[in-house]
Amino acid sequence: MSKKSGSSKRWLIDHARDSYVQAARHKGLRSRAGYKLLQIQEKYGLMETGHIIVDLGAAPGGFSQIARGEVGREGRVVAVDLLEMAPLSGVEIIKGDFRENATLDELINLLNGQQIDLVISDMAPNFSGIREIDQPNSIYLVEIVLEAVVKILRPGGSLIVKCFEGSGVNDLRGRFRKNFRKSYNFKPNASNNRSRESYLIGRNFIG
Ligand SMILES: C[S@@+](CC[C@H](N)C(=O)[O-])C[C@H]1O[C@@H](n2cnc3c(N)ncnc32)[C@H](O)[C@@H]1O
Repeated sequence: MSKKSGSSKRWLIDHARDSYVQAARHKGLRSRAGYKLLQIQEKYGLMETGHIIVDLGAAPGGFSQIARGEVGREGRVVAVDLLEMAPLSGVEIIKGDFRENATLDELINLLNGQQIDLVISDMAPNFSGIREIDQPNSIYLVEIVLEAVVKILRPGGSLIVKCFEGSGVNDLRGRFRKNFRKSYNFKPNASNNRSRESYLIGRNFIG
């Protein structure tokens, strides 16, 4: 067995004790992250029966499971990730890098003219631990989502995007204010207090 460093051992212990991890296992959720989307849904109610939802950075599939439950059989959930995602009943999966045009084209083809009600992005870059590299990478992931929504989100639709507090986030907030009639910044309780992560939320897309 490989030797774990002090910090990764600590992470494993904290993770196992985490009440959301335990609850997610109990409920058969693929990740504790599903609770963050549940808490966003409790507060803003952006997912409805019959909705078409795209879940970017979806693996292992916690958000997609929650979205699937909310949209019901009449709705549609498309999950996109760089990584292989195990099949999930009622969820269409695209394996691809969303920074590449080919992945957006594949998504547009799959949608076949249907416009999306809600785009969710929980994409996060591989963190190096160097803030000067990680922060611009995380901002870039939000920017490509903002560019894509112009092509795929219906006017009146909503957007939920994970961001990491730091340089560049205020500009993103400004772009949300311009593109959506209402915008918010929300940190669900299920999001670790020690993390700079929070979610930018736009409601009623101007288009
Ligand atoms: C925090 S995880 C998502 C957890 C997921 N929301 C859940 O509930 O299980 C972030 C995901 O973003 C994906 N990701 C990061 N950059 C990406 C990119 N450029 N294109 C597609 N997926 C990306 C990663 O592969 C990773 O699976």
